Amino acid sequence: MVTITVCVGSSCFLRGASQVIEGFRALIEREAPGVVELKGSFCMERCGNGVTVKIGDVILADVHPEDVENVFREHVLPALGRNAECGQHVHH
Ligand code: FES
Repeated sequence: MVTITVCVGSSCFLRGASQVIEGFRALIEREAPGVVELKGSFCMERCGNGVTVKIGDVILADVHPEDVENVFREHVLPALGRNAECGQHVHH
């Protein structure tokens, strides 16, 4: 089980935190249902570099909605013990 925590403080919210959450939600549903927990959090005190996302114990700054898929492949799937290369590429 991996936990993704997305900052929904006001600064991150303005930078697209809700789209980031929605992006993760869709990826989890498609690729890792039931093994990734998605949570919101109050300000993580990195407001200048939002959106701030925490994956397990690793804090990532500057996550924009368009980065979500890469972050998922590079940080979430490996944390689940999956090879990032194996994921299918999906276009919207
Ligand atoms: S509002 Fe997200 S780090 Fe402060």
